[in-house]
Amino acid sequence: MAEIKRVGVLGCGLMGSGIAQVAAAAGYDTIVREVNDEVVQKGIGGIGKQLGKQVEKGKLAAEDRDALLGRLKGTTSLEELKECDIIIEAIVENLELKNEIWRTLDGLCPPHTIFASNTSSLTIADMAAATKRPERMVGLHFFNPVPVMKLVEVVKTIATDPQVFQTAFDFAKSLGKEPIVCKDNSGFVVNLLLVPYMMDAIRALEQGVASIEDIDKGMRLGTGYPMGPFVLSDFVGLDTLDKIGGIMFHEYKEKRYASPPLLKRMVSLGYFGRKTGKGFYDYSGDEPRPMPLV
Ligand code: 3HC
Repeated sequence: MAEIKRVGVLGCGLMGSGIAQVAAAAGYDTIVREVNDEVVQKGIGGIGKQLGKQVEKGKLAAEDRDALLGRLKGTTSLEELKECDIIIEAIVENLELKNEIWRTLDGLCPPHTIFASNTSSLTIADMAAATKRPERMVGLHFFNPVPVMKLVEVVKTIATDPQVFQTAFDFAKSLGKEPIVCKDNSGFVVNLLLVPYMMDAIRALEQGVASIEDIDKGMRLGTGYPMGPFVLSDFVGLDTLDKIGGIMFHEYKEKRYASPPLLKRMVSLGYFGRKTGKGFYDYSGDEPRPMPLV
């Protein structure tokens, strides 16, 4: 594999901080960029807390935690990412914002730097087109929670250089992940199948097929999924689900990707799931309770 020593991560939210954590854990010098100091501190602080729990459980030695954190740096400057061999973008799902950053980095980074996006539903080609290095652009799509989930979808566009793709694939393996090869279609493999499933669960609820708890229980116990569709939707974030469903609907013009009315109303009211304390479940008590939605 072409040598990757320094890893840049754009965004230090749920996905970006997880990606930065696994990169630093794999021994890479990692620099993660956010828009302001507060978000940088929050993201890096969250990683520290997460690692602290592992140390308490005896799953990670305190000196390994310290070494990992020593390889991790936060910044608010894009300029500081110019020495990176690969840059993984994990910012909000907005093509214009992503491309604005890619254009800036394209001007700052040396020709060998690989650009990778963790997009859930946009196409990699639509980002590659904004740069002068479309052959060095790939998708690296991680899953939440990044430190736990083994899968990475490695995505090649019709313009990706096969060697660049191989480097990205080997890089994903070097993080301890199990990569799969995907074409550059909106949603790749997992979201192509998962998004309609979650939308269908909401439609089943709207139609009164069963209660929130029973639909969740049915899919957990009937298919062995670790979380039912409503627990999972709240975990992913209902605003995120609505957004990626919208992008996929726009791409394919197929109803199964479209947000059902109930999801739209919930997003309007700020019921985003776990992160806002309310979604299909109410998280304000000791145990999540289903919301009275229908
Ligand atoms: N961050 C880091 N580690 C976490 C974590 C988090 N947010 N949540 C749980 N863990 C760790 C725990 O510390 C524990 O580690 P240990 O075994 O070393 O002690 C381990 O994961 C298991 O956790 P728990 O025992 O607390 O809980 P579960 O056994 O129920 O597992 C789960 C939690 C891994 C989240 C499991 O419920 C699961 O796999 N859920 C499905 C998640 C999923 O489908 N993710 C994909 C979402 S779609 C996506 O990301 C794509 C995007 O584009 C939309």
